[in-house]
Amino acid sequence: MKYIDLRSDTITKPTKEMRKAIYEAEVGDDVYREDPSVNKLECLAAEITNKEASLFVPSGSMGNLLSLWINGGATTEVICASNSHIIQHEIGACSSIASILPISINSKKGILKAQDFEPLIKQSGIYDMARTSILEVENTIGGSIYPISNLKEIKALAEKNNLKVHMDGARLLNASVASKTKVNIITQYCDTVTFCLSKGLGAPMGSMLCGTKDFINEARRYRKMLGSGMRQIGLMAAAGIFALNNNIERLEIDHLRAKEIANVLNNGYSTFSVGK
Ligand SMILES: Cc1ncc(COP(=O)(O)O)c(C=O)c1O
Repeated sequence: MKYIDLRSDTITKPTKEMRKAIYEAEVGDDVYREDPSVNKLECLAAEITNKEASLFVPSGSMGNLLSLWINGGATTEVICASNSHIIQHEIGACSSIASILPISINSKKGILKAQDFEPLIKQSGIYDMARTSILEVENTIGGSIYPISNLKEIKALAEKNNLKVHMDGARLLNASVASKTKVNIITQYCDTVTFCLSKGLGAPMGSMLCGTKDFINEARRYRKMLGSGMRQIGLMAAAGIFALNNNIERLEIDHLRAKEIANVLNNGYSTFSVGK
């Protein structure tokens, strides 16, 4: 019997065309920065997010961790929504590995405003308190897209207080397609951003971490500390390149299908029908 598995967008499997791209990938040793496919993917991700550089990491969780570790780390705090992935679904790695203390904000859907963060910011110089280093936003969070106006105000608040903004953009491309907003318009309001290739974009693995050149150089060193010098990983980078070149626009079809399912579940009938 044929069934459709709707547990998660992580269940996606590579198509025949993506498998062909994997098969034909040019590879080299990425620890020496000699894998042409990885280099190409990292350029592409930096270009899409309009950041200086990017790094191919095995997972979104590792991308988040690297940002929290490098821009925050011990003696500091990250402020984020209480239902954020970094708190709920990363085995506490932010505190156990990055040594950063998460300070959580309860909010209905996880979409925060600058005024939610502001009263929780702690400056250095207070003798017995960790200082705030990072404001974290997850976009999308539980399927909700951050309004650009929130992001703009959060970034302004961060700048005023000398803090970084990290965006967990596991589904950044979904946010971009659904809101008809170019990715770089969204990412201009964060210092670092991760997005996943392994979800709706259909690649078997991997996420991109994007930021300044200095930050990415450091992230490359920290990634190695975590044991993720991935050698001939161009095979997987080729899947990522294929995904970014071919699978972004079709996310619209996923969104329409999800809405159709929601309609049936909520109302018992379908208001429209999406093609194959
Ligand atoms: C919002 C969000 N951030 C980060 C991740 C982590 O991605 P990965 O499973 O690649 O570690 C996920 C995974 O589902 C996610 O939903």
